[in-house]
Amino acid sequence: MDRPVTRRCMPLRINGETVQPAFAAHKTLLEVLREDLGLTGTKHGCELGECGACLVLLDGEPVLSCLLMPQDCAGREITTIEGLRDGPELHPLQRAFAELGAAQCGYCTPGFLLAAKALLDREPQPDRARIVEALSGNLCRCTGYLKIFEAVERARDALSAAHTAEE
Ligand code: FES
Ligand code: FES
Repeated sequence: MDRPVTRRCMPLRINGETVQPAFAAHKTLLEVLREDLGLTGTKHGCELGECGACLVLLDGEPVLSCLLMPQDCAGREITTIEGLRDGPELHPLQRAFAELGAAQCGYCTPGFLLAAKALLDREPQPDRARIVEALSGNLCRCTGYLKIFEAVERARDALSAAHTAEE
């Protein structure tokens, strides 16, 4: 006889909204995002903390959702790739990735975009070495990385120009 699955229900703050999913208690944050909340932009890769495909932001810091339980996120703000756009506008990182062809199959792209956002939010003028270091936990099998680094630099410059224009 199958054992009944223990379920849990708890509020989570995701992309500026509070949601209350009910989910099997053994599920990781990655599984709850994808399977119970339909936020499939967060990708399912190695599930071992090695590829970065599942990266989301927790209070603005990059974390690997395959290694986190939803309970670890209680009272904290989770940002997934679905929350990166600013209304109808693409984030400058998304625009730069599209313009420079930094996404090919795209499987790694959400993780790269969010890792790059965390970097640019805390350090607006990173040089190439800092960008490479900040993205070193994310693996890409398609692009050879160069276009990704160039796209982050283009977004950095666009954000910096927008900031200067506001002053
Ligand atoms: S799926 Fe989480 S690091 Fe690979
Ligand atoms: S674009 Fe395919 S894995 Fe990165």
